[in-house]
Amino acid sequence: LEVLLTYSRQILTENDLGGYTIPAKGLYPYQWNWDSALVAMGWATFDEARAWEEMTKLFSAQWDDGMVSHIVFHKPSTTYFPGPEIWGSVEKPRKSTGITQPPVAAITVHKLYEQAVNKELALTKVRELFPKLLAWHRWFKTARDPENTGLVATLHPWESGMDNSPAWDEPLRNVPVDDIPPYVRADLTHVNSSMRPSQAEYDRFLTLVYRFRAVDYDCKQLYYLSPFRVTDLCTNSVLYRANLSLRWLAEMLGELDVVPEIDEWLEGFRVAFSSLYDPAVKMFKSKDQLTGKLLNASTSAGFLPLFARIATPSQAQELAATLEQWLSCVKYGIPSNDPNSADFEPLRYWRGPIWAIVNWMITDGLLAYGYDALAQRVESDTYELLGSGICEYYDPTDGKPAGGGSFSWTAAMCLAWLG
Ligand code: DGY
Repeated sequence: LEVLLTYSRQILTENDLGGYTIPAKGLYPYQWNWDSALVAMGWATFDEARAWEEMTKLFSAQWDDGMVSHIVFHKPSTTYFPGPEIWGSVEKPRKSTGITQPPVAAITVHKLYEQAVNKELALTKVRELFPKLLAWHRWFKTARDPENTGLVATLHPWESGMDNSPAWDEPLRNVPVDDIPPYVRADLTHVNSSMRPSQAEYDRFLTLVYRFRAVDYDCKQLYYLSPFRVTDLCTNSVLYRANLSLRWLAEMLGELDVVPEIDEWLEGFRVAFSSLYDPAVKMFKSKDQLTGKLLNASTSAGFLPLFARIATPSQAQELAATLEQWLSCVKYGIPSNDPNSADFEPLRYWRGPIWAIVNWMITDGLLAYGYDALAQRVESDTYELLGSGICEYYDPTDGKPAGGGSFSWTAAMCLAWLG
């Protein structure tokens, strides 16, 4: 374990570009939103000041409307597409992207504060970050739930963080491919195309970017004009849990006047969340907001309501049974896609491979609901996998490391969870 921890600290240090950590050299050369929030948990185990800096740097790019972008382009790079000149223009490159990502940050700030040895620094940082977190969560409510359904919308597969999840196959089919400028993907120079999203997916990812750019990412318009609008289980589970953290922080700081507002959001989630449960297959499902249909695919995001603590005890029991069934089909857990399904691809990004961050979130949820033995199985699987290399993801059939190497959020999970 000591060797693994030393190696993990080394990865974060080498991926540190000065106050922010890139997910991996070459493949992801900027600051990614939810990567950074998870990476800060890793930094906190050996350098608290540096962990806080990661969060400060992420929020330094917060938009006036409260949004926190999915990528912040602090320094130029030639190894990524689409970069600042696509999100903006060659004449006026953007400093950050016009879409967001699952809002892990409040969970991180809560965790960092609770675990802080230097409480004075922690309190200063929480005071500084709290209004920014609140503004971001308010943005989710107004920009992504303008019809007050209780759940928030995700308008781009990149916003879900699980870009090519089989859950997005159906809604992406309804996204037309516009006559977009020709482009060259950079990801395929770093990772084999068999492990990455397909060209058809990229054409749609880019179409959405150009449509959003055409209205200058005006959040009041995007919800209505996007041809892709889903209720993503990951974003909604993470936001619910992040709101629990935000509420905790508000009470700790004595900011009691915002507590009723957060309580109202939480109640809205609780009422609406049950509509995402599919008892026939004992799983939570994401939903296509434009057709109103639950999406067929069962993915690892379906277990994240456990991380949120929003599943009922009986749903939790059924989810645990589903998870056990999945684990009986693979050597290592947790696959990102149902291993029984026809579109299970053990090496293709979010269509099968194991991700350490998802394993951590689900394990945290299993423990909260008392499924200790199952949590233990996932934790020991993760430990074994990371022992073979700290990479982006792993093949659930044989444990082979895949995707980008020396990967920051995997290293962070090693430090913050397994350490
Ligand atoms: C990528 O480029 O693969 C990222 O997931 C987009 O955020």
